[in-house]
Amino acid sequence: LLLLLSLSHLNTAALTVAVILEQGTPLQMIQLLQTPWEDRFRVCLDLVRLLHFLSRSPLGSVGLLDFQPRQFITVSGQLKLTDLDDVSAGEIACWTDADCTLKFPHRNFTVPCSTRGVCDGLNEKRNIYNAYRFFFTYLLPHQAPPGLTHLVDHIMNTTGELKADINQTLEAFEQILLLYKSGLHLDNLPSGNGEYRCWPSYSQQGCVLSVHSAREAAYICNSHSQCNSFTLTGQKTWTGEKLCLVSKTCL
Ligand SMILES: *[C@@H]1O[C@H](CO)[C@@H](O)[C@H](O)[C@H]1NC(C)=O
Ligand SMILES: *[C@@H]1O[C@H](CO)[C@@H](O)[C@H](O)[C@H]1NC(C)=O
Ligand SMILES: *[C@@H]1O[C@H](CO)[C@@H](O)[C@H](O)[C@H]1NC(C)=O
Repeated sequence: LLLLLSLSHLNTAALTVAVILEQGTPLQMIQLLQTPWEDRFRVCLDLVRLLHFLSRSPLGSVGLLDFQPRQFITVSGQLKLTDLDDVSAGEIACWTDADCTLKFPHRNFTVPCSTRGVCDGLNEKRNIYNAYRFFFTYLLPHQAPPGLTHLVDHIMNTTGELKADINQTLEAFEQILLLYKSGLHLDNLPSGNGEYRCWPSYSQQGCVLSVHSAREAAYICNSHSQCNSFTLTGQKTWTGEKLCLVSKTCL
């Protein structure tokens, strides 16, 4: 596996598989559930980028057999894999389609046994479904920005049904990132519905939210009767969004 690891450093600038024990925080789902959507989205995006890389690694398609969150750490908010003991490298040999069945507690999936006698795409599919059941279901839909929920729902459905391969899944994630960074999803903000809440806040001390622009901050503030002012703090999140302090007690 060392080959895979060293190449991963060369291949993708944004993505690093941790080889050496790095100062990181083990992924804690409970904690992650209490972080802003933008941070939860980042973990899912990093995971999809990792799975995209693993699907066409120098060793062939690599399946992660142990997909528990404890297998991952975050280093400055970025997701990394700690343990590559439990992987399946290369596709599994088969005689019939029945040999190519993925069994999960609530779903079974079968891929065709190819003429070469391997289960084509089985590792990639197992990875995608595990990402769906261990990560996306908990992290993605909850408090997704209203302008992006249809795209998030689409990802939930195509990964939960294994209708999209890892390339299409990565494309869908990158599209959400692009829209989010550009603020285009804010173009048609409905007037004054109370979708925004000041939880999770970026700060324990007050209501600090990430916003694309002063316009979005104004929109959030206007949609809450308790809000009387807001301040752009000058700090930015990993996507480059601005942090905004919405005043009066937490919404
Ligand atoms: C998955 O397949 C096993 C047998 O291989 C069966 O017992 C089980 O009920 C199936 N699960 C679902 C959810 O279809
Ligand atoms: C995907 O969408 C179909 C049709 O709306 C629905 O029946 C199915 O339950 C959805 N699956 C998931 C995993 O969300
Ligand atoms: C997925 O994308 C890679 C390039 O990123 C490409 O080489 C590969 O052929 C694509 N696979 C499919 C099934 O489209």
